[in-house]
Amino acid sequence: MLDIARSWVQQSQRIAVLTGAGVSAESGVPTFRDAQTGYWAQFRAEDMATEEGFRAHPERVWDWYQYRRDLLAGVHPNAAHQALAEFQQRHPGRLTLITQNVDGLHQRAGSTGVLCLHGGIFENRWLDAPRACCRIEHAAPGHPPYCDRCGNLVRPGVVWFGEALPSATFEAAEQAAHQCALMLVVGTAGAVYPAAGLARQARAAGARVVVLNPAPSELDDAAHAVLRGAAGTLLPHLLAG
Ligand code: APR
Repeated sequence: MLDIARSWVQQSQRIAVLTGAGVSAESGVPTFRDAQTGYWAQFRAEDMATEEGFRAHPERVWDWYQYRRDLLAGVHPNAAHQALAEFQQRHPGRLTLITQNVDGLHQRAGSTGVLCLHGGIFENRWLDAPRACCRIEHAAPGHPPYCDRCGNLVRPGVVWFGEALPSATFEAAEQAAHQCALMLVVGTAGAVYPAAGLARQARAAGARVVVLNPAPSELDDAAHAVLRGAAGTLLPHLLAG
């Protein structure tokens, strides 16, 4: 199956890749839905990844994001991130990388034009529409930092459950899904929409779809081929050449 998928890579002028937390697992970054080690095994997504959760307990949520930022500062891109970045460098303009990850590891590996559907964990923005007094660079230190004039809180620049995806980014991702001849779906449970819908859109538009995942995912049924294995092992083989 790996050889067939490899021939599809070689034949495809336009390739889209949709990645999820599993692509960073081999770097030592926890996924969300792993039954033992996933973040959602320990925390409730409603508490840590919604605006309501942040408003209810801003300190707890801020500290959790700070913990994740600190963790990311100590890890490195792995062979999967590198294989994607190197393919983009060898074949300019051929591979569009769409990620649900906020960890910045694709960019650190050297990937360009990464479509970050769920924002970036190292970005900050104001919780409420900023007034003239809210200057992000002057935010008073705290957990979270805040505007010392009006009390507005700083929040991480990620997309929480119930929030809209950045529209231009999502439109570019949909365009890539519609135009590609091949979509690789790497390291995602395929449980969160609209991101997961991109694989179904790609298939409906005529692309071949290949899932790379060591475990069953909710997108297996959308795939022409399912490769069971770790991204850091499979992607370097698939994208060689
Ligand atoms: N290589 C490839 N896939 C792997 C690996 C690996 N080494 N290790 C684990 N996986 C797979 C798991 O089998 C699982 O299917 O990665 C997937 C991770 O799934 P989730 O934890 O659900 O992460 P993801 O699909 O990215 O979540 C989507 O949900 O919590 C929100 O906003 C958050 O962007 C996230 C979104």
